[in-house]
Amino acid sequence: MSGTSKIEVVRTVAGLRARVAEWRAAGETVGLVPTMGALHDGHLSLVRGIRKEASRVCVTLFVNPKQFNPNEDLAAYPRDEAGDMAKLAGEGTHLLFAPTVGEMYPQGSATQVAVPGLGDILEGSFRPGFFTGVATVVAKLLLQALPDVAVFGEKDYQQLLVIRRMVADLDIPVAVRGAPTVREADGLAMSSRNAYLTPEQRAVAPALIRVLRAIAAAVRDGADPGERAAWGGRELLAAGFAKVDYIEVRNAATLQPIASAGEPARVLAAAHLGRARLIDNIPV
Ligand code: PAF
Repeated sequence: MSGTSKIEVVRTVAGLRARVAEWRAAGETVGLVPTMGALHDGHLSLVRGIRKEASRVCVTLFVNPKQFNPNEDLAAYPRDEAGDMAKLAGEGTHLLFAPTVGEMYPQGSATQVAVPGLGDILEGSFRPGFFTGVATVVAKLLLQALPDVAVFGEKDYQQLLVIRRMVADLDIPVAVRGAPTVREADGLAMSSRNAYLTPEQRAVAPALIRVLRAIAAAVRDGADPGERAAWGGRELLAAGFAKVDYIEVRNAATLQPIASAGEPARVLAAAHLGRARLIDNIPV
């Protein structure tokens, strides 16, 4: 199938497995790109990246109710399957797996995959149950498709670490790749939730990456991580953000507080701007 061919859509696990089995029989390798749709250039860059590693690419489109808590935006989450298909058609996607909620979580479905520790801090402490929802659906998608390689964006850095932990702990035979965050020209990380921003809020939003970059540079130059992070929180509020959930410099592998100067570190933040809750992170 060429890069611009019509994409095949399957909505059942049986259909997905049948197609992947055919590919395997033909000696193909399989790459998986899990998404919740409302695709933007960040998602498309994941597809482009995985095409270099696998001869067949399956994108999944499933707005996973288990990773939204009751006061979050499940019903309002942007959905545009036709638009997503059009975007993917130019990118060499072979298969779109777009199951219903009933297909993913049939009546009686009860098992959950939790990643305590890593899944309870930062995002996990502000969005209880979020990483259990993510780990559960990603474990299912990986076991349903059994790809050689799966890719996740570094914009959701903690999610990437949680998925790596889960894949290692459950011995799921897949290589997990992280892909760099794709940004707008002014630095704002691409996100489906940017659609919630008014033009005025959109003008304020790049303050987030500006502050993260300033903190990373200062910490690299020897500044105190806690003091700089506190400064960053104040800057975001002064710029017009309504609330800062967290802004932290953490160990890049464990996400625990920095214990000594020079250890690999990451600056991570989540802050509210209008209806949007923006998250971003960069290495120090
Ligand atoms: O990052 C996302 O879009 C979702 O959390 C994921 C990994 C597709 C699981 O639903």
